[in-house]
Amino acid sequence: MIKPLNRPEFHLDKKTKQIFFGILILYSLVAFHLSNNKYVKFVNAPEISNVALPTSSHVEELNLKEFRVKDRNLKDLREQLAMAFPYEPEKPIPRRIWQTWKVKEDSMDFPASFRSFQRDWTDAAALEGYDYMLVPDDDIEAFLRNLYGELPLVLKAFEEMPKNILKADFLRYLLLYARGGIYSDMDTYPVKPLGKWPSVDMEKLKTFRETRKPVPYKGFKSEAVAAKNEREPGLVIGIEADPDRVDWSEWYARRIQFCQWTIQSKPGHPVLRELILNITATTLDSVSSVKKTAEELIDKTHKMDYNINFRDKRARDSHYDHSQTKTSENVDGSDIMNWTGPGIFSDAVMQYLNNLIQSNDDILLLNGNIYAPSTMNPAETLTQGDDGESTKKFYRRIIKSLMVNRSIPWEFFSLITEPIAVDDLMILPITSFSPDVNQMNAKGIDDEMAFVKHQFEGSWKADAGHG
Ligand SMILES: *[C@@H]1O[C@H](CO)[C@@H](O)[C@H](O)[C@H]1NC(C)=O
Ligand SMILES: *[C@@H]1O[C@H](CO)[C@@H](O)[C@H](O)[C@H]1NC(C)=O
Ligand SMILES: *[C@@H]1O[C@H](CO)[C@@H](O)[C@H](O)[C@H]1NC(C)=O
Repeated sequence: MIKPLNRPEFHLDKKTKQIFFGILILYSLVAFHLSNNKYVKFVNAPEISNVALPTSSHVEELNLKEFRVKDRNLKDLREQLAMAFPYEPEKPIPRRIWQTWKVKEDSMDFPASFRSFQRDWTDAAALEGYDYMLVPDDDIEAFLRNLYGELPLVLKAFEEMPKNILKADFLRYLLLYARGGIYSDMDTYPVKPLGKWPSVDMEKLKTFRETRKPVPYKGFKSEAVAAKNEREPGLVIGIEADPDRVDWSEWYARRIQFCQWTIQSKPGHPVLRELILNITATTLDSVSSVKKTAEELIDKTHKMDYNINFRDKRARDSHYDHSQTKTSENVDGSDIMNWTGPGIFSDAVMQYLNNLIQSNDDILLLNGNIYAPSTMNPAETLTQGDDGESTKKFYRRIIKSLMVNRSIPWEFFSLITEPIAVDDLMILPITSFSPDVNQMNAKGIDDEMAFVKHQFEGSWKADAGHG
């Protein structure tokens, strides 16, 4: 268990270090395996079209849930994306598994350490009637051309990304947005039948929806909530990091970080649309070869938002050279986090959820973690006290933020042990995709909420061999 530490620089426990460096090393390992020159160069460079590149963070007037393309004159990339892959929430999640690697599984160069993991995925797929698709580097160009041929800005952004780790992140979002299914990194394996995931186990889903009491927010009209009990959720994500300690920011990019090594979604999900929009805009404005073109497409009133050199803290850092264009030489770990990695992924989810409750009065929030299980009575929850390891300790703060500011605070997702639903998003506890990490209240691989095991250590060892 993590305890707040007084002198973190001297008292880091070993496991914390392992996880932290495991994440860094996983990134470098993937980057190592994707050699730059082989990795996608479109033969005929995609023509950049003249559509606007709106930001994903200035959506005050926009209801992202209800966003519809008005006519066929697609005026910006958001409309292009929505048109190319319309979101159909009433359809089930496609039964498909995506993985990506440098080579196919039958190649000599496929890492021996991943063979059994990969077989676990194909076995699970075969057993339960899922399609399985491993996309090797050589097929990426054809895949993307086929899926995103009508969206040259997206193709261009992909092509121009200065590091393969950025491409590896971007690719998973693009595949899921276009076709849906489960994406999972090569160093993961399923620990339960896919049909047991709470997103597709209809019996569990029904019980969950019928027995959890909706959490209110300012303006919420419970009677307006339509009965959508038969639908599977549209986007299913897990908690990656929930460091309940004062020095969390030394370790993680976000207080609540959502995991993007395993994601399940329906095609066209608006969170992925906003994420792809953000990443495309950031890329076009941050790399030199396309910067000039992007200049004409961006929203000038929010100019700073496009360039990765102006994200948050860095924007205020006077020692930082904000004019530099990004190349493989000067992209660092925090750039990756905020450009394509778990940082921007978490931001996109949080922003979407807040937009949802600010723009709609019928959003169903189900979070059994904040009520006393016996009664689901808030008053009783408060008098019961807590052991400090439960979402309940944030009850007041959560409700206040929802009722006063109409905003979902990070505490809503902290210390959860059972799934949460916000509209058609399902958020799973840390145990679901990170069992056995012995951190942040994650439980073991045998826990009923454990679905995918992530072998941080496997990638660490594999990397050691490369010096
Ligand atoms: C991308 O998202 C980040 C994080 O929310 C935000 O700061 C930035 O302004 C966005 N940029 C664009 C171009 O959408
Ligand atoms: C990345 O984004 C986070 C959250 O917005 C911010 O605190 C941090 O300063 C950013 N880092 C860089 C290098 O831009
Ligand atoms: C509401 O938002 C304001 C401004 O962001 C913030 O200062 C305040 O703490 C928030 N209140 C609650 C209850 O979250």
